[in-house]
Amino acid sequence: TASRAHAHAKFAFTPIGIATDHAVHVPEGYKSQVLVRWGDALWSDAEGAYSADTGVSLAMSDRVFGENTDGMELFEVDGREILVVNSEYVNPKINLPASSEGVPQNADEVQLLKNLQGVTVMEIARGATGYQVVKDSPYNRRITHETEMTLAGPLAGDELVKTDADPSGRRVKGTMNNCGSGKTLWGTYLTCEENFNGYFGATGEMPEGEGYIRYGIGGEGRYAYEKFDDRYDISKEPKEPHRHGFVTEINPADATSVPVKRTALGRFKHENAEMVHAADGRIVVYMGDDERGEYLYKYVSTNTWTQGAPTEGLLDDGQLYAAKFNDDQTGEWLALTPEATGMSEAEILCFTRLAASAVGATTMDRPEWVACNPLKAEGYCALTNNKNRGVKPNAGGDDTSVNGPNPRETNKYGQIVRWAPSEDNHAAEVFTWDLYVMAGNPTVYDNAYAGSANVNAGNMFNSPDGMAFSSDGMLWIQTDGDDDNEGDFAGQGNNQMLVGDPESGEIARFMTVPNGAEVTGLCWSLDKTVAFVGVQHPGGAWPDGAGKPRSSIVAVWREDGAMIG
Ligand code: FEO
Ligand code: CA
Ligand code: CA
Ligand code: CA
Repeated sequence: TASRAHAHAKFAFTPIGIATDHAVHVPEGYKSQVLVRWGDALWSDAEGAYSADTGVSLAMSDRVFGENTDGMELFEVDGREILVVNSEYVNPKINLPASSEGVPQNADEVQLLKNLQGVTVMEIARGATGYQVVKDSPYNRRITHETEMTLAGPLAGDELVKTDADPSGRRVKGTMNNCGSGKTLWGTYLTCEENFNGYFGATGEMPEGEGYIRYGIGGEGRYAYEKFDDRYDISKEPKEPHRHGFVTEINPADATSVPVKRTALGRFKHENAEMVHAADGRIVVYMGDDERGEYLYKYVSTNTWTQGAPTEGLLDDGQLYAAKFNDDQTGEWLALTPEATGMSEAEILCFTRLAASAVGATTMDRPEWVACNPLKAEGYCALTNNKNRGVKPNAGGDDTSVNGPNPRETNKYGQIVRWAPSEDNHAAEVFTWDLYVMAGNPTVYDNAYAGSANVNAGNMFNSPDGMAFSSDGMLWIQTDGDDDNEGDFAGQGNNQMLVGDPESGEIARFMTVPNGAEVTGLCWSLDKTVAFVGVQHPGGAWPDGAGKPRSSIVAVWREDGAMIG
């Protein structure tokens, strides 16, 4: 089912080899430079906030760029360039004193961690030495686990989302585990709440319910928040976790705007949100739920839209679907309706995983980013890997045995599935699909684990994750995989970013990142001559060469100044 190379791809660069060092590598004729690191000041009063010995102080923790950069998008606002970036999670061992041993010991340490995650909005501008953050820009903003936001859509105000602190069920604090991103057609940012479950814990009796189990909520929280903040203690606030796990919309043009959680797009471990304008005028958002055996979703607005028309209700009033992939390379979008699921509309949007199981959606090998080709009606989803098939991640999950788009028993390498909607209409309920690539290692295996025909010793990789299309219709693929360069992964080196030609199937390596890091998040300057690439959880002491490893965004451009996006 894999693509074969038909014509020669038009890569504008000479592919690079693998690397195993603690550096960034780009092709000959290209340059790279760090744009911003964890701890860099967004406002002048925070200059010098980062210390190589102690990290960032609590006082400055919401005045600097957050840790572990992930999805990002660039916006034009009044002719200025505004970059909006997720900080997915924190590494407590890097941020807390050694005596804490990676677990917050008091409320201040919890607050520090809360402040270094979430979303950063920042103006960037090109100067004599390349792009830089514009300190003190009126657009600069930090959105954290404590920022006030609104819950909108059919689940808002329901009993399922009312808490002691918010009897209205409409006012929520914080967006968390912000993984991938999206950009609306009307110029707002979508941040996607992924492993939100890990922030909650129970100091007393756990509430019962299939919903908690299926989402992995319970036990001890990852960062001990529940010990110092009742909001994260599900034995005290059992509904609070129901208020997270959404796609949240942020207006980058107004630093005082209130972010809005869009419940109509469902509650699960959201990877990213790829919005397209369907041929029939409706708004479509494709979304992956990144856990073994979970699903691929799409949302279709009820109303159509034209550029410049009001956008109210477009992300609140619509139909959510889960994908069913048939073995004959056809597929259908199964509507998550009360009739089909036996659940109320509010339950469907709160316990979306259960609704998708009820209609028989296809279990997938960890759906990560979705990207849609701007030149033709087709979507791609990175199915990053599934090293543990058959072991259901959470009780109540479905049979996760092999199926059409997830064909390998132990899937260490991952694959990218591609679909074409019927009649080139992304709102259509049926589609055809194939595998754009099955990653593998042809130097170790000569079976399905060698990968598809467009994988070879010179371009091999594992665990595709981030993806984005450039305006010329090329698919950029970022990896988050095993980078020990041994055994099954021998010859694959550090994580990397590759470029794929959808037509020929050819794939070429463009960039490698420091050992230990994944590559995640990609967007381009307004003139598309500079790519911004996220480097998350680097090892060593990158990029400073001494002190702590610092997650950073890297700018990459061609020395001749040509467009690369
Ligand atoms: Fe945060 Fe599924 O990656
Ligand atoms: Ca990811
Ligand atoms: Ca990943
Ligand atoms: Ca990650």
